[in-house]
Amino acid sequence: VSLEPYNTFGIEARARYFAHVTTPEELDWVLRQQNYPPKLILGGGSNMLLTGDLDALVIHIGLLGKEILEEEGTHSTIRVMAGENWHELVLWTLERDLGGLENLSLIPGSVGSAPIQNIGAYGVELKDSFVSCEAVEIATCEKRTFSLEDCRFGYRDSFFKKEGKNKYAITSVTLRLTSRDHVLRTEYGTIAEELRAAEVLHPGIQDISRAVIRIRQRKLPDPALLGNSGSFFKNPVVGVAKLSEIQQKYEQVPFFRISEKEVKIPAAWLIDTCGFKGMRVGDAGVHQHQALVLVNYGKASGKEILDLATRIRQQVLDTFGIAIEPEVNIL
Ligand code: FAD
Ligand code: EPU
Repeated sequence: VSLEPYNTFGIEARARYFAHVTTPEELDWVLRQQNYPPKLILGGGSNMLLTGDLDALVIHIGLLGKEILEEEGTHSTIRVMAGENWHELVLWTLERDLGGLENLSLIPGSVGSAPIQNIGAYGVELKDSFVSCEAVEIATCEKRTFSLEDCRFGYRDSFFKKEGKNKYAITSVTLRLTSRDHVLRTEYGTIAEELRAAEVLHPGIQDISRAVIRIRQRKLPDPALLGNSGSFFKNPVVGVAKLSEIQQKYEQVPFFRISEKEVKIPAAWLIDTCGFKGMRVGDAGVHQHQALVLVNYGKASGKEILDLATRIRQQVLDTFGIAIEPEVNIL
């Protein structure tokens, strides 16, 4: 089966076997098939780079459904099935005046993938409204519920990227959202600026969502028009001594303080400063407006994208002595 329609990089690669599951029973049945190669769970394919054909049984999660489980006081708890589209969920919550996901508007992919890297944007992460998720262990078909603590969320990180990697199929996610007294998060990036430009004086969660959508549409390429997987690398965390060293030469280096001893430096800036922005090698390229986003102009192979990424990583290491790590899952 060609995976080209199933990955936002638009890379041509094949899977030996492919199953689209729409009910828990179908998922259970597929997981019980023992005579197949390793199983790989697929959502929207917006955070992976396929570097070759997969000798795998790819299981595309199509479980659908959203429900409000409980409404109490200022909060509502919702449960969403893994195959729902993330951004459509955000819009669904906004229509019901439920707050907490507005800063995470327009992130591609499925709900079931959101816990894998603890999706985050504009000062908010999934963990901020996460209650639990249900999953099935791939090897045993046993159901398990993971609490917030079990998931061990970090920056673009969780249990599911470490010990739990490729071991579970997440089937639903439970979130706790505000039903009134919404907490607006406008301090990150250019949200406040965007609201001023739109002449919004008393913003609500809908306004924040709209502002985030506008910013994202300006910066990030639409995968439907230009293949990409969002940020290719994570933003590195470095010690303050490294920051001072860089500041000697680049006074204007942007950074976010994480603790007294550590800062996060935008990988986009490091890559940009190395001169890669807008570079193109065959059909593999570095996006013109965001140096952290690698793009496929048409027929690039996963290998060509990976070669470009390796070159970027080496140059950043040679120039700044910082090893940047991929954010995208490389398969
Ligand atoms: P996939 O690519 O299908 O899968 C990703 C990983 O999760 C794979 O390892 C897969 O095996 C595993 N997986 C998927 N579903 C399940 C499941 N149900 N159970 C167990 N494992 C599963 N991310 C951010 O955090 N913030 C952003 O701002 C952001 N912006 C983006 C912008 C663009 C233009 C693009 C293309 C991507 C962006 N991303 C961002 C990355 C991406 O949207 C997220 O990582 C998203 O959660 C991936 O969802 P997906 O369904 O496409 O996952
Ligand atoms: N910058 C450059 N050159 C560029 C682009 C950016 O120098 O080409 C500098 C600018 O100084 C800018 C800074 O880098 O202020 C940060 O850039 P941006 O605001 O675009 O955010 P980012 O750090 O590159 C992160 C996430 C995004 C998320 C945004 C908003 C990571 C790896 N990426 O990007 O997530 O949407 O912040 O919160 O943390 C993704 O994960 O796929 C993703 C897009």
